[in-house]
Amino acid sequence: MEGEGIAKIDDFVIFIPNAIKGEKVKILILKVLKSHAYGKIIEILEKSKYRIEEDCTTYKRCGGCNLRHIDYEETLNIKQRKVENLVNKTLKGNNIEVKNVIGMGNPYGYRNKAQYPVGMNKLGEPVIGVFAERTHEIVPMQKCYIQNEIAEKIAFTIYKFIKEKNIPVYNESNRSGIIRHIVIKVGIRTHEIMCILVLNSKSIQHESELVDMLVKEYNVKTIVKNINEENTNVILGKQNIVLHGDGYIYDILGEYTFKISPMSFYQINPVQAEVLYNIAIEMPELSKEDILFDLYCGIGTIGIFASTHVKKVYGIEIVEEAIKDAKENAKINNIKNIEFYAGDVEKIFANLIEKKQVYPDVIIVDPPRKGLDENTISNILAVKPRKVVYISCNPATMVRDMKLLEEKYETSEIQPVDMFPFTSHVECCSVLYLKDSIQ
Ligand SMILES: C[S@@+](CC[C@H](N)C(=O)[O-])C[C@H]1O[C@@H](n2cnc3c(N)ncnc32)[C@H](O)[C@@H]1O
Repeated sequence: MEGEGIAKIDDFVIFIPNAIKGEKVKILILKVLKSHAYGKIIEILEKSKYRIEEDCTTYKRCGGCNLRHIDYEETLNIKQRKVENLVNKTLKGNNIEVKNVIGMGNPYGYRNKAQYPVGMNKLGEPVIGVFAERTHEIVPMQKCYIQNEIAEKIAFTIYKFIKEKNIPVYNESNRSGIIRHIVIKVGIRTHEIMCILVLNSKSIQHESELVDMLVKEYNVKTIVKNINEENTNVILGKQNIVLHGDGYIYDILGEYTFKISPMSFYQINPVQAEVLYNIAIEMPELSKEDILFDLYCGIGTIGIFASTHVKKVYGIEIVEEAIKDAKENAKINNIKNIEFYAGDVEKIFANLIEKKQVYPDVIIVDPPRKGLDENTISNILAVKPRKVVYISCNPATMVRDMKLLEEKYETSEIQPVDMFPFTSHVECCSVLYLKDSIQ
């Protein structure tokens, strides 16, 4: 479900973007596949009471939001039903309650990270904006209602500078040109700003002039040049060169301060991240005797939040720079009962058990969208921690993995959190209990 409406003709499913459940619409069928078809609204004959005026001019073309035409409260119900449907379809346990989605009081300007592609339009002119849905066509930048304002202003200033100075922009078709992306990270509570210039080259013309201007106009704390000369859809390349500041920023979540580097993952909605982390440490009722594994730990945020509730935390994360940040974050926050390991969870998790003989009572997993790999699932089933806290930004893979864990684990509730308002994405948290340990 990407937020489309669904119609059926004799059980044949047609997905209709922008249609709302209960509406009567006249459609044009655009594409017919074996199992389903895609249609486009030509006329709305009967409007849903949840339909609202779209506020964003690029909404229909941008690949970002897809629920801006629906009243915010109703988008939360849609997301709750989406998770509920997945659970009912996949899991045996029929007493699993999917709770109401925890929404935001103010679901606008919530993002702390912006990634703007820079390229050329059909006329060969430089353009900055967002990728159109499922394509690499750049829709020119306009006001985005989920982005923070300062990121937008800085990106636009850089774009004007590039145009004025005739700095060549990246051309995907022949891989020429220099500037590919502008990435901006903002510490929402510290107001610190990191600006990353992603380049298809080691250097950019008028570099020091650009840096001086950004520091003077926006008090940018750090500016980093990221070199990405590969033919890839991955935004950041492997090499970072610091042009100004220390190469990182700080932000504050709850009572903790976190260092964030260019390559490190940090939740894009810090207000809801705090809500999610508190749920993730309250739901499993942690004890001071518990050994906790924080798998896919990023810069150590969840483990650090949980550290005062347990005996010891072990964090594992594949991005080395994030682990460096995590170690530093433990120091900054004076957390002594935490250790971090860089590497693939698939291997390091087993190493901790086999080589270090550390056995977790509780495991928190927060994997990327693809979910857990087979080895990690079998390792969990072999190690049998009493509780597994599953945090996920993709309920489809979460439910798939829960099914694979079902032989030994059961759950009674899933708490969704609206981490990405107005998009069809939803974050979930659930505690899986080892069946043998339930009295
Ligand atoms: C959804 S993020 C969660 C990060 C962290 N828990 C947080 O809340 O900020 C997933 C993290 O898993 C890391 N990751 C992806 N694949 C991994 C793997 N195979 N082993 C270890 N970490 C991995 C990513 O780099 C990313 O930091």
